[in-house]
Amino acid sequence: MKAPVRVAVTGAAGQIAYSLIFRVAHGDMLGPDQPVILQLLEIPPAMGALNGVAMELNDCAYPLVAGIVATDDANVAFKDADYAFLVGARPRGPGMERSDLLEANAKIFSAQGKALNDHASPQVKVLVVGNPANTNALITLRNAPKLNPKNITAMMRLDHNRSMSQIAEKVGSHTTRVEKVVVWGNHSATQYPDISYATVDGQPVKEKVDNEWYENTFIPTVQQRGAAIIKARGASSAASAACAAVDHMRDWALGSKGKWVSMGVYSAGNPYGVDENLMFSFPITTENGEWKIVEGLAVSEFSRKMIAKTEAELVGEREAIANLL
Ligand code: NAI
Repeated sequence: MKAPVRVAVTGAAGQIAYSLIFRVAHGDMLGPDQPVILQLLEIPPAMGALNGVAMELNDCAYPLVAGIVATDDANVAFKDADYAFLVGARPRGPGMERSDLLEANAKIFSAQGKALNDHASPQVKVLVVGNPANTNALITLRNAPKLNPKNITAMMRLDHNRSMSQIAEKVGSHTTRVEKVVVWGNHSATQYPDISYATVDGQPVKEKVDNEWYENTFIPTVQQRGAAIIKARGASSAASAACAAVDHMRDWALGSKGKWVSMGVYSAGNPYGVDENLMFSFPITTENGEWKIVEGLAVSEFSRKMIAKTEAELVGEREAIANLL
């Protein structure tokens, strides 16, 4: 058995965490020979519920769980963390403007960025899930100057997986046969799910679907999938979000083996001309614990417009919290 690694999860009494923590504890993220110490963070009013989660974790008797810490102190939760899932965030309350929401979250993620900076392992891999995920990740990054900016990412994998599933269903195949899907930009309704390079069994998807379906059904379906789940389930996506978070961290840590994934990453030096100070989703491959943007792709006129739209939204979000950056 390897030495245990420390995995921090914030919002640990919430819906996503209720699936995520148990998947991590089971070994779905780092494999069946990697023990984990779970470091769970909540706000004080949710500590009772978090203790209930810790009791259930104990009752699972997971062979890989080498310790459980349940706390409302970010400095304790992030202490020596090797991996951090930042899931907890402030949801939009009644009468709250978008700018209020951005600002409330900016405060949470500034504090958590500082705590990561001061207490986590210098190599910690951070995945921001809590919305608005990309801008929350940018704030985290700005408040953690000791960390490599490449170690802070935002979750776009749910959008990526949703795109794969829509394509597989449309062409009558399986998601395992779909490759080279890209979701560009923000985790919001402006995201751009792009099938320009996608293949099914090595054949271009564009040859199997018509453009009308692509532009008027596929793109809006993926963009609006979160709202469709809320309408159907009466609650927001939780298990699929947890699944995406596990996929993101697993591929980052263990390698994507040549497959393309979508990750929100710091845009400095990106080869697609996107503003250099955003957390933006690009086509990515991962190897040896590092991600790399897939370079040299031809970007169509249509794609350029779609990318510009989601980029403009992220620039607007950044401007709304400029005083806190
Ligand atoms: P939830 O409301 O069930 O749980 C959130 C938990 O976070 C709550 O238990 C709350 O007490 C806790 N929390 C709030 N502020 C905190 C803080 N400062 N420190 C630690 N914990 C804190 O929400 P759910 O369904 O688990 O979703 C969590 C977040 O993930 C939401 O912001 C949601 O919008 C976002 N999300 C992101 C997705 C993505 O693809 N990036 C997909 C789905 C959800």
